[in-house]
Amino acid sequence: MSVSLSTPLKIGNKAAPNRIVAQPMECNNADADGNPTDLTFERYRRLAEGEWGILTFEALTVAYESRARKNQLGIAEKNREGLGKLVESIRAIDDETLIIFQINHSGNISNGTFSRVVSPYPTGDPGVYVLTDDDLEEIKEQFATAARIAYEAGADGIDFKMCHGYLLGQLLRPANTREGRYGGSFENRTRFFVETTQAIQKAVNDPDFLLGTRVSFYEGIIGGFGTTGPDEVAEDDTEPLTLMRMIEEMGYHFINVSAGIPVMTPQITRPTNHCPEGVFRHMAWTKKVKETVKIPVIGSAYSYLRNGANDLKEAVTGRKDFVTLAERNIERGYVDMVGVGRQSLADPFFPRKILNGKTDEIRYCKICGGCASLLRGQGKVGCAFYDSFYKEELKRIRKKKS
Ligand SMILES: Cc1cc2nc3c(=O)[nH]c(=O)nc-3n(C[C@H](O)[C@H](O)[C@H](O)COP(=O)(O)O)c2cc1C
Repeated sequence: MSVSLSTPLKIGNKAAPNRIVAQPMECNNADADGNPTDLTFERYRRLAEGEWGILTFEALTVAYESRARKNQLGIAEKNREGLGKLVESIRAIDDETLIIFQINHSGNISNGTFSRVVSPYPTGDPGVYVLTDDDLEEIKEQFATAARIAYEAGADGIDFKMCHGYLLGQLLRPANTREGRYGGSFENRTRFFVETTQAIQKAVNDPDFLLGTRVSFYEGIIGGFGTTGPDEVAEDDTEPLTLMRMIEEMGYHFINVSAGIPVMTPQITRPTNHCPEGVFRHMAWTKKVKETVKIPVIGSAYSYLRNGANDLKEAVTGRKDFVTLAERNIERGYVDMVGVGRQSLADPFFPRKILNGKTDEIRYCKICGGCASLLRGQGKVGCAFYDSFYKEELKRIRKKKS
């Protein structure tokens, strides 16, 4: 059977109506308690109208005291009601899309100006608090509580965030030489992931609730995940692929493959004209994961492809646009679903337009970096190219900076 972007996909006991995923995109627009505001509702309303296969909620912090964004959405008891209303508002428009909450602890990427910067291992910066085993125990419980809140708020599942250098990414990497149970050997570095997964499964206890995780396959830093030692730089698949097998064996229903650490190696996470072939690297990582596990695999970094107006090179001129490459990768079994981040801000109706053959109406992402600058500057995040509100927000952030 030929598979296309419009082919539904079974994930666990549920089904995504098509193969296009709205990746998690932090938009920093919550209120002081981490609850959704009108801006949050507006953003997700537009996404709901877009007919996504999976609609992933941006990184929700399980620990408000250590967070990366001043106005980050939270997922603690006090946020249950607001998140529930947000889910309801989406379902009222689209009851087929799978709603997945990304749950995260920012670890060392927490922002010290309004929260506490913490790390699982000594980073060399004496100002950074090193988490004790008791602290990690508490964070484990925060993740379990967050998963239960996601379930009660009506989400279809969670994405346990292990990508992009936040707490879980820090624990996994070979540079985590922490003494004791959570550092050093691969078994120790993955222990927190294993124990937290078990705590989440116990807290939710419903086989229909989808469990997923987003992983940076290769971080691109010395001693980062995807290398073989604390001072190694050469890329090595052994640990990432072993982790993928563990994820499947632990009962996860899907894996979202990403790479890099946006605050350190942004070109790996989000390819641009400076490094377009990064798109191909993402495709190759996903293919390796597909060769290793049977559960559905989501690919990242597809925004750059657009309608073929990109700087990717071909040996023989053909087609290098989103639809062609996404469908080819799905058809060949290199990936099951394709995710877009920046493109979902540029045009929240992206899948609907593709599925209805209206690609000429798509507002393609300009890869201008405006959304990332807004996030870095703690502004409200949206598309600063097409949307005048966010264009003004970007001007304000730049003025403040200068
Ligand atoms: C403004 C902004 C916010 C982001 N927020 C998140 C997030 O909450 N969680 C996450 O896993 N990745 C996040 N990312 C990364 C994207 O999900 C995605 O991996 C990246 O943009 C590359 O995909 P793309 O080329 O389709 O944009 C963010 C990226 C940007 C630019």
